[in-house]
Amino acid sequence: TMPAFPMEYAGWEAAARAQLDDVMYDYVAGGAGDEFTQDANVRAFQRWGITPRMLSGAAERDLSVELFGHRFASPVFMAPVGVVGVMDAASETPGHGDLEVARTAAATGVPAVMSTLMQDPMEAVAAELGDTPAFFQLYTPNDRELAESFVRRAEAAGFAGIVVTLDTWTLGWRPRDLQHAAMPQLQAKCLANYFSDPVFRAKLDKTPEEDPGAAAIQWALTFGNPGLSWDDLAWLRGLTDLPLLLKGICHPDDVRRAKDGGVDGIYCSNHGGRQAASAPALDLLPDVVTAADGMPVLFDSGVRSGVDVVKALALGATAVGVGRPYGWGIAMGGAAGAQHVLQCLLAEADLTMGLNGYASVAELTRDVLVRIP
Ligand code: FNR
Repeated sequence: TMPAFPMEYAGWEAAARAQLDDVMYDYVAGGAGDEFTQDANVRAFQRWGITPRMLSGAAERDLSVELFGHRFASPVFMAPVGVVGVMDAASETPGHGDLEVARTAAATGVPAVMSTLMQDPMEAVAAELGDTPAFFQLYTPNDRELAESFVRRAEAAGFAGIVVTLDTWTLGWRPRDLQHAAMPQLQAKCLANYFSDPVFRAKLDKTPEEDPGAAAIQWALTFGNPGLSWDDLAWLRGLTDLPLLLKGICHPDDVRRAKDGGVDGIYCSNHGGRQAASAPALDLLPDVVTAADGMPVLFDSGVRSGVDVVKALALGATAVGVGRPYGWGIAMGGAAGAQHVLQCLLAEADLTMGLNGYASVAELTRDVLVRIP
């Protein structure tokens, strides 16, 4: 019989670790530099308390949030985790972790942002989503035609929006992965969106099926776009009529530029401390929200519990993302494991709101929180 899944973050990580080899475990667990940045993400939540209110009639709670005209039952969403496609060692069909994520979204109603780096093509992933909306995360390649092709496919597959990740035009300094020489070997297992793309395929001498090595090299040459700048925002905006979000924006001036350029949402994140070393995330959220001036702000980085979800909402996030927590869930038990993690986060957020006396997300305002020195 399957032992019950653990009930908190440290347990999920430990259960996942037991299923993963060191290279994969370190890829997920690790981050930039001395990993101070990702530890600081977690500590940032510990410096806020929630002021409890009594007799406020919070016996029933409404955790739903409004985003781009949809009502989302869950304020929590799954952040894009590339390579989750090959993290599902414990599932019944290993090697299809992206499908497991989509099934998790379908089963829980928790929206997912799906990475460009999938092990199954986005069309197959979209087919597993049921009624739950999902977003496509675009790593902008240095080939505009390929970027356009990805966006057209995401539209055709029914994704509800495009999230452009800006903080990963090249990979961060990650000592654990460098030690294992893990990159880009791990990513190279998750190139289904590239290998299935007509624009990408047209640039190869031999098909990816005939010569996967050459195709992976072509991917490595195409993946990053160090030259991307604000001058390209008009082009990005023009790519789609779907809601367009920029991920990795943490400065108010950048928020205003994005807003002036016509984006629909900001996604404040430091990539879980994996990219720009020493970049805060939660501490920058309030100013991002102020600058966004009513535009939706998604947030992730360091959320480990339902309590953290409540705090990020109170600091102004419209919806709150988790990366590693559900990634560990996929590793410890495929879709069942990820569902368990999300249900724990949602149940704890719900109970935290109730016991502290807040009945809806709208009641979670900044003055609910108290700074703990
Ligand atoms: C990520 N993240 C990420 N972001 C993105 O835009 N595209 C991607 O492909 C990936 N891939 C990825 C892989 C792994 C293993 C991790 C842990 C993270 C970043 C992710 O979307 C999110 O910003 C962070 O995971 C949030 O921090 P926490 O929740 O992990 O602390």
